[in-house]
Amino acid sequence: MLAIGDGIPRWDMPLSIRAPHKLRVPQKIALPTRTMSPTPAPDSRSSYTRVAIGLHWLLAFAIIGSFSVGLYMVDLPLSPQKLRIYSWHKWAGVTIFLFVVLRLGWRLLHRPPELPAAMPAWQRNIAGATHILLYLLMFAVPLSGWLMSSAKGFQTVWFGVLPLPDLLEKDKELGDLLLQLHMLLNFSMAALVFLHIGAALKHHFIDRDDVLTRMIPFLRNTASGDCK
Ligand code: HEM
Repeated sequence: MLAIGDGIPRWDMPLSIRAPHKLRVPQKIALPTRTMSPTPAPDSRSSYTRVAIGLHWLLAFAIIGSFSVGLYMVDLPLSPQKLRIYSWHKWAGVTIFLFVVLRLGWRLLHRPPELPAAMPAWQRNIAGATHILLYLLMFAVPLSGWLMSSAKGFQTVWFGVLPLPDLLEKDKELGDLLLQLHMLLNFSMAALVFLHIGAALKHHFIDRDDVLTRMIPFLRNTASGDCK
């Protein structure tokens, strides 16, 4: 039988002894940095995935719509119509919550495209922080509504068919407090969305980079004739 010192490699020897030249000392690899890590392998696409784009716009319209309905309904006089609109608003909130779970899951599994190289670090940091806060608020806003509704003693019956469990015992004072919280979270989100839209428009019209077009790819196609 041959031993290690005989110079002929054996299949059951460790690789470091059989073929030392095949071992590579790992070098420090500079991975591209992107806000809102951790995410999987780096991506060189110039646009978000279709699913990410679809979920972004579906949620953007749903959230803006639900926010507007919320503003409209609070001042209505008590009537069956008001109660119906409250129900629609609650169903929308629960649906938005579920889509946000889906969206966050997709986001954690799919790295977004790199930001423009020329974008300064402070802008990257603000963009990253804004996105994290938007995600947090997309969860917190519907959740605070559900908590408030439970505390006020109104169970949510999703689309009129699926009764959801009340998250809290009935407690009027707590319900009023949660209403304040729900409004505060909504207005904070509205302010952040304005900032977010302003930044997207600045990128498009002033910096003239691809930050907006990778979330609205058809804009790029019509602007440059590029139909990739
Ligand atoms: C309620 C409304 C909206 C919410 C909650 C929202 C939320 C978000 C979030 C969380 C991201 C980060 C995506 C990710 O990396 O996972 C994002 C990206 C983006 N959003 Fe919105 N958005 C809204 C409306 C809008 C509107 C109206 C515009 C355009 C005018 C817009 C333009 C963009 C763009 C261009 C990106 C990509 C930014 C980047 O690549 O860094 N969003 N949005």
